[in-house]
Amino acid sequence: MQKIKTQIAEELKKQIDLINPDTGLDAEAVSLMMEYPPDKTLGDLALPCFKLSRSLRRSPVQIATQLAEGLSCDAIAECKAVNGYLNIFISNDFLSAKVVSEILAKGDDYGKNDVGEGRTVVLDYSSPNVAKPFHLGHLGTTVIGHSLRRLFEFAGYKCIGVNHLGDWGTSFGKQIVALKTWGDTTKIEENGVDGLVTLYQKFHEEAEARPELFDEARAEFTKLENGDPENTELWKRCIAVSIAEYQKTYAQLDIEFDYYTGESFYTDKMPAQVERMREKGLLKLDDGASIVDLADYNMPPCLILKRDGSTLYPTRDISAAVYRHDTFDFDRCVYVTSAGQSLHFAQWFKVVELMGYDWANKLVHVPYGTMSIGGAKLGTRSGNVVWLKQLLNMSIDKVRDVINEKNPDLPNKEQVAEEVGVGAIVFNYLLNSRIKDISFDLEAALDFNGNTGPYVQYTYARCCSILEKATAIPESVELSLTEESESALVKTLSRFPEKVNDALSQYEPSVITRYILDVASAFNRFYHDCQILSADDEKIRNTRILLTKATKTVLGNAFGLICLKKPEKI
Ligand code: ARG
Repeated sequence: MQKIKTQIAEELKKQIDLINPDTGLDAEAVSLMMEYPPDKTLGDLALPCFKLSRSLRRSPVQIATQLAEGLSCDAIAECKAVNGYLNIFISNDFLSAKVVSEILAKGDDYGKNDVGEGRTVVLDYSSPNVAKPFHLGHLGTTVIGHSLRRLFEFAGYKCIGVNHLGDWGTSFGKQIVALKTWGDTTKIEENGVDGLVTLYQKFHEEAEARPELFDEARAEFTKLENGDPENTELWKRCIAVSIAEYQKTYAQLDIEFDYYTGESFYTDKMPAQVERMREKGLLKLDDGASIVDLADYNMPPCLILKRDGSTLYPTRDISAAVYRHDTFDFDRCVYVTSAGQSLHFAQWFKVVELMGYDWANKLVHVPYGTMSIGGAKLGTRSGNVVWLKQLLNMSIDKVRDVINEKNPDLPNKEQVAEEVGVGAIVFNYLLNSRIKDISFDLEAALDFNGNTGPYVQYTYARCCSILEKATAIPESVELSLTEESESALVKTLSRFPEKVNDALSQYEPSVITRYILDVASAFNRFYHDCQILSADDEKIRNTRILLTKATKTVLGNAFGLICLKKPEKI
């Protein structure tokens, strides 16, 4: 709009010069006089002509009338003189051509901005607990976290994705006891995470009758903490097996991390931070444990050291934040976890502030609600835990069935089934405001006619197929819009950049997911109302082909922001 305003200001200046060539006003001064009317019926731009009365020595009403008669250019549809105001209506075709040519010129870059240039954001997400199932509860942090990463990158930030694996703590003592007692340590890799989980469950079953197993576990963990070579080797192998398994799921979701630095990475970095807390007089003894009292801030105390001196989850988070700040000099460090951990983050963020770190306000917690399974029945193990990989595979299987039934000759069937099956789950998840608790229904998520991943991916494939069939894609963007659904589509497409900003400022990928639905429905309405390739008039046909191409670009860019793949044929 700014560019159009400048162009119109130049035209206005020519008209003003015709009335009086000696006003000394240049186009920029005229542009500064113009306003955006509060009400669309008053035009898209207006010039309050009283601002010119003195230099033109005429009444505002006269000036407005004279300018309205003289002013014309391709950007202007109509000018009206109303009560001393010159109201200017911008041509719809002109505006649309601007939007469409910008989309086509920028392509993959359309919607990007550079507010984050020169700034770094650290994103801590996914972060499952090693040797435990990567379950549905981790879907939120994984896909919200990665989507935020893509959004920050889109806004020009340098992003560092950290997987803060839960790879330390007494549970490893239990795992080691279980491995040594009932497991086969030569088969850790062969049996994978499933094997580790089974052993871990066995530990808890056995420990019910033999509570002394807990002491054994503590002893094994202490050995690990003291660097015992055998335990260290077992622990390392459990981690390697777990990461290899998680990476299969990450690959399906198209996710990568820069670092897999889990909690254990901070072991040697904690003493310095505990010392700093002590120096600042923050540590208090409470029944032998060291805590930071947060009563003044209406929060329970933050636990720093247990009675035996061992560290805790907050201690590790505090040390990790300091390390990340010193290493990456972040502009923000964002943590995506379930809302159940909100208090934990509020507590240790406060401790970091009390420790005197002036960057404490750069720590951001992004919480999300819980997800339960409705509708579809899922195989469960150990009570109600649903493994993410099971859910993804079940979705892929169902899409494969649909493809085999409806489009059996589709090339790359397996790849498409995976892209659509995984996409259905991601899309469904990211459709809701993150803080809402949701009940997941696989059938609904897979409905090609609903507000789903398959529906929007199908719309994208529809654009691809139209463009593939078009004999020539027009070079120049000269539009001829004849239907309301065409203008509505262009308007929707033009909103993408502002949606990117909204999503980022609210840490809310659902803004993009809902926007994708808006684009898909605007496109499908246009597709329903307008003949595209079979339109007789060449200019109209070309306009529609370009609108299809612009839609494909915007959908594709938006898909990238929510980790949705772009199959060209379904
Ligand atoms: N491992 C934790 C869990 O599964 C999540 C870790 C989140 N990140 C952090 N820096 N605390 O609940």
